[in-house]
Amino acid sequence: MSGSAAPGNQTVTITLDGADRSTTLPLLAGTVGPSVADIRKLYNDLGIFTFDPGYGGTAACESKITYIDGDEGILLHRGYPIEQLAENSTFLEVAYLLLNGELPNAGERHDFEQGVIRHTMLHEQLRSFYNGFRRDAHPMAVMCGVVGAMSAFYHDSLDINDPHHRKISAFRLIAKLPTIAAWAYKYSIGQPFIYPRNDRGYAENFLYMMNAVPTEDYKVSPILTRAMDRILILHADHEQNASTSTVRLAGSTGANPFACIAAGIASLWGPAHGGANEAVLKMLAEIGSVKNIPDFISKVKDKNSNVRLMGFGHRVYKNYDPRAKIMQRTCHEVLGELGIKDDPLLELAAELERIALHDEYFVARKLYPNVDFYSGIILKAMGFPTSMFTVLFAVARTVGWISQWKEMIEDPAQRIGRPRQIYTGPARREFVELADRT
Ligand code: CMC
Repeated sequence: MSGSAAPGNQTVTITLDGADRSTTLPLLAGTVGPSVADIRKLYNDLGIFTFDPGYGGTAACESKITYIDGDEGILLHRGYPIEQLAENSTFLEVAYLLLNGELPNAGERHDFEQGVIRHTMLHEQLRSFYNGFRRDAHPMAVMCGVVGAMSAFYHDSLDINDPHHRKISAFRLIAKLPTIAAWAYKYSIGQPFIYPRNDRGYAENFLYMMNAVPTEDYKVSPILTRAMDRILILHADHEQNASTSTVRLAGSTGANPFACIAAGIASLWGPAHGGANEAVLKMLAEIGSVKNIPDFISKVKDKNSNVRLMGFGHRVYKNYDPRAKIMQRTCHEVLGELGIKDDPLLELAAELERIALHDEYFVARKLYPNVDFYSGIILKAMGFPTSMFTVLFAVARTVGWISQWKEMIEDPAQRIGRPRQIYTGPARREFVELADRT
């Protein structure tokens, strides 16, 4: 893959002041979005690097999977708006779309669902990994360990250069993550593991493995199943975020897909990324009541406090995160189904949002609610413990990670990821013997 030339074959010329040297760089255009200066020959031509900590202005790859317009609050998967997918599609259909580029027809959809379903069980030996963890281990720690361990069990799908191996490892990851996640939860509360049932849909099966016990029948509410499926769709992919970039970077070395997804899970864990949904609930609990909101907002605005309004702000969205709007609607549906009226957390969140959206600090910085602001409230109402929120994000994002990983492996222009740096440490100096050191 390589981007096409920008309209009119536009270029960018960079002149090194005082050195009488310049280079002309091609400008590449995507389908939509800003053009991109191709700086690959900059070092050769001028002997300089670019500096972009956090990669805010750097496109690290070409991708056909997801497009975000952060100013307008638009999110497209393979061209389809997230609102339409969340309303009309299913998580597995979105998984097919992300992996293969098109929505499946009826036959393709059936085959894909069957492909995933056939892989929901874990190798029985993987069970013993759980016993190695403390019962109070954070389930994300268990996820990192058990998903990484998959590399040691599924040797017949580790050849990244074989398209069939890539397909099977994608099926395995998508199918087994809910089982791994539900068992992490069951282990933490000391209940028996519940095996997957292939006569249940993806989201339904996950809720079943999370909530059922062997001693009773367990019926999953269709409304909660639909809400769970929608939450999974909303988290399925989000372009080149920190965890996806981690997966791509790990994958660029030729590491196997299970190892790469384990790396993605580790990256997702942080509170600035997937850990934010857990942090939102902790924050709401700390605020406690609507009357404490002004004090909390003052702390957030105080640069010395290090307090942030969790669930607000985004590197790319400088507008309402479109996923947050759908999440807010879903939140009301779920609370309605569960008969929860006047939920104090929801009341607190709504008031916090109302104040923040009018406060000059947040308005000036274009800080709006992101996907995590309401997801925690829904998940809590559905009975998920706070520590499982980010795990659920990981289950959903596995689809995006493996799609992006597959796209990268199949890209002939792919090279090992290897950023450069501006070195500001000591220049060369001579070793000092211990006796001579002060
Ligand atoms: N609360 C208060 N101030 C904030 C917040 C916030 N949540 N987010 C950004 N700011 C301020 C920040 O202090 C800075 O102000 P100033 O210009 O005066 O120094 C300005 O806004 C720009 O912030 P930044 O840190 O340069 O922005 P970033 O793009 O590096 O960070 C972010 C993006 C998501 C890490 C950040 O907004 C944040 O920490 N949000 C809270 C955590 C959160 O909700 N994360 C979930 C993101 S969505 C799901 C996902 O991707 O996983």
